[in-house]
Amino acid sequence: MCGIIGYVGKNNSVSYIIDGLKKLEYRGYDSAGISILQEGKLVTVRAVGKVAELERAALQVNPVGTTGLGHTRWATHGKPSEENSHPHTDCSGELVVVHNGIIENYLTLRTQLESLGHKFKSETDTEVIAHLIEENLKHVRAANEEEKLIKAVQKTNKEISGAFAYGVMWAHAPGLLVGVKNQSPLVVGIGKKESFLASDVPAFLQHTNKVIFLDEGEVALLRGGQVTVLDKTGQVKKAKSVRISWDQKTAEKGGYDHFMLKEIYEQPQAIEDTLRTARADFGKILGLDTSTLRGLKDIHIIACGTAYHAGLVGKYYIEQFAGIPVSVDLASEYKYRTVPHMKGTLAIAISQSGETADTIGAIKKAKSLGFRTLAICNVLGSTLTRLCDSTFFTHCGPEISVASTKAFTSQITSMYMLAITLGLANGNVSKAAFDKLHRELMRLSKAMSETVKLEYTVRHLTRKIYKADRFIFLGRHVNFPIALEGALKLKEVSYRSAEGFAAGEIKHGPISIIDKGTPVFMLMPHDSVFEKMLSACQECRARGAFVVAITTPDGVAQAKRVADMIIPVPQASEFLQPVLNVVPLQFLAYWIAKRLGCDIDQPRNLAKSVTVE
Ligand code: G6P
Repeated sequence: MCGIIGYVGKNNSVSYIIDGLKKLEYRGYDSAGISILQEGKLVTVRAVGKVAELERAALQVNPVGTTGLGHTRWATHGKPSEENSHPHTDCSGELVVVHNGIIENYLTLRTQLESLGHKFKSETDTEVIAHLIEENLKHVRAANEEEKLIKAVQKTNKEISGAFAYGVMWAHAPGLLVGVKNQSPLVVGIGKKESFLASDVPAFLQHTNKVIFLDEGEVALLRGGQVTVLDKTGQVKKAKSVRISWDQKTAEKGGYDHFMLKEIYEQPQAIEDTLRTARADFGKILGLDTSTLRGLKDIHIIACGTAYHAGLVGKYYIEQFAGIPVSVDLASEYKYRTVPHMKGTLAIAISQSGETADTIGAIKKAKSLGFRTLAICNVLGSTLTRLCDSTFFTHCGPEISVASTKAFTSQITSMYMLAITLGLANGNVSKAAFDKLHRELMRLSKAMSETVKLEYTVRHLTRKIYKADRFIFLGRHVNFPIALEGALKLKEVSYRSAEGFAAGEIKHGPISIIDKGTPVFMLMPHDSVFEKMLSACQECRARGAFVVAITTPDGVAQAKRVADMIIPVPQASEFLQPVLNVVPLQFLAYWIAKRLGCDIDQPRNLAKSVTVE
């Protein structure tokens, strides 16, 4: 998983590429590199670490050229090192490649190429692409050097296998960048007399919002402001460009110290924007007509990480409102378990990025079993949305922080809308009940605006507890997945040990890890399981825990008797309460990480979208 950026135009490409790489760091950040075509020669600078290191190194070399490629890497083949950083060159040093994904047959190809005399300098799978193109350049016939490069790339694409996207630049074809997309993300940006190749739109959004989303197997040829797309058969295709409504400001921090904090505060808007589209005929948006909705017998939800927790909440919703049995699987498990065939099964993949390899693999399996597929996704044009029969977009704008916040609450909101729509269609929910549920949903954004005001309370609390060794999160029923999410958030950004449990389970084992002073967060709105949560508080307190109750106004008085601290969240309906309850836990993770001096937006060992299995 890596980030690719390419520029070809009228200006010096270096700053475009470095800026683009900074916007792509969320895709991985163990090393980075650039290659610039300067007076007929490729100048390459690479550095281990973040893009800032590369920027420093590039300043020393100071390359100048109007065509260039850049890359930020997250290691898959070969340790993070300068040799393994991209761009990679062929033997001549006249051709460079940047790549995202995995070349599955790279070892076979490497052996073949070595026997033909090619000398490899890195341990990466990427380098075989450069050498293979070099080899193929010797064998293709063409009228000129540009055509020769294009043919060599097309021949190479037939010989490599796996999921990949890559960009190529050749000193003999100046002013041309070639991009290839095959199951890894790659988009093209078209500006005035300049164009961009990138793994994701924010990389060039400050220069243009006119975007072409490439399809699988396509090759893009970039020459200044002119872009040609070849389809997988090699024919020129009339590629459609779209205008992206996100402006650059949306993709930047907007005055907050971190993207994570900014994104927590964006949740009222994210919910509002997500629901805006849902005000129309939601069934239609889902691409599911009433008879299909009525015929659904079984739902499989598939997701990873935070999106999986949104799926767990979705199960409660769908079973409550639509009465349809739901299974929720981690995508990495779904692929390998036996899934019984059923008529009327809908597989729902939830993913912020739409590029998570495990989720894509699982949805492919669902498709192969003949299930109808639906994506709940935030990224227009992403692989998942192209694979699924239909998509509901969460519309929460680019989420840059690795730890997901606004995408999570938008995903839950979407699941709720889906559940009540299903319920109305199959008669499990009356029109009057649907209208009431819908009205409650439409009030959610306002309640969220109140909830984000809790930052100060949570920040103050973290001063007391941020040095604790371990943290426990407990919830029941629809708040159980929120306990899991609270623990995940804290682990991700603060590297603290944190675990979430169903409150009823602690007596079956987890209570043994509660010690004097262990912070235990209780998700206990004043709802149907409130009394049970009060008992859980007492059980934990009796073992010396420092109990923090997250409760609604009606629960405050009773919670005060059994908790050391109260975080009062605004009241929503029982089933929508989880959307609000997660917010203090997001602030908690943020502030503990901040006090511990962690790299909040780019935590160690993590990446925003994991495009390898
Ligand atoms: C990575 C991220 C998580 C995210 C998960 C699923 O592991 O670090 O924050 O929840 O992928 O990502 P998706 O884009 O599919 O929602």
